[in-house]
Amino acid sequence: MYLMKDIVRDGDPVLRKRAAKVEFPLSDEDQELAKKMMEYLEVSQDPELCEKYELRAGVGLAAPQVGVSKQMSAVLVPSDEEDGEPVFKDVIINPVIVSESVQLAALSEGEGCLSVDKDIPGYVPRHDRITLRYQSTDGETHTIRLKHYPAIVCQHEIDHLHGVLFYDHINKEDPFEAPEGTILIG
Ligand code: NI
Repeated sequence: MYLMKDIVRDGDPVLRKRAAKVEFPLSDEDQELAKKMMEYLEVSQDPELCEKYELRAGVGLAAPQVGVSKQMSAVLVPSDEEDGEPVFKDVIINPVIVSESVQLAALSEGEGCLSVDKDIPGYVPRHDRITLRYQSTDGETHTIRLKHYPAIVCQHEIDHLHGVLFYDHINKEDPFEAPEGTILIG
């Protein structure tokens, strides 16, 4: 199981590389990687286990964050209701945003990242809605529409596969200045 010591931190060049496409069928090694990344998110979202293993809770984890420069990210956006089905849960492989809304959205609290230990305040403008195409671990291609929070999470995770970190998008002069019309979420 991945622990915080396995998470690559900002400053490591792997986080700034463009990750390589993943070949199908997945190798055993890639299957294991996908499984372990999702396991991290599941365990981290269980308050007791999160504390026990001294994890930081996360909703997304990209392969470069565990030192593997491949286009694979685990995403687990939990339900708003207790014990409800997750809003989105999958390991997205070779993901591509095929279309995006002009409407921008940002989390009102800003974003965080398991690879960034300090709080970096500011709005991170993203597309409010996206159409995402990706492959799942079985090689099946999915095309799905996401909006608001899960769309933001996926954009954050896809950025990791392109060597981009959330704070790159924050306005340097005024961190809480977002392009006009950006809606705030959360
Ligand atoms: Ni991140």
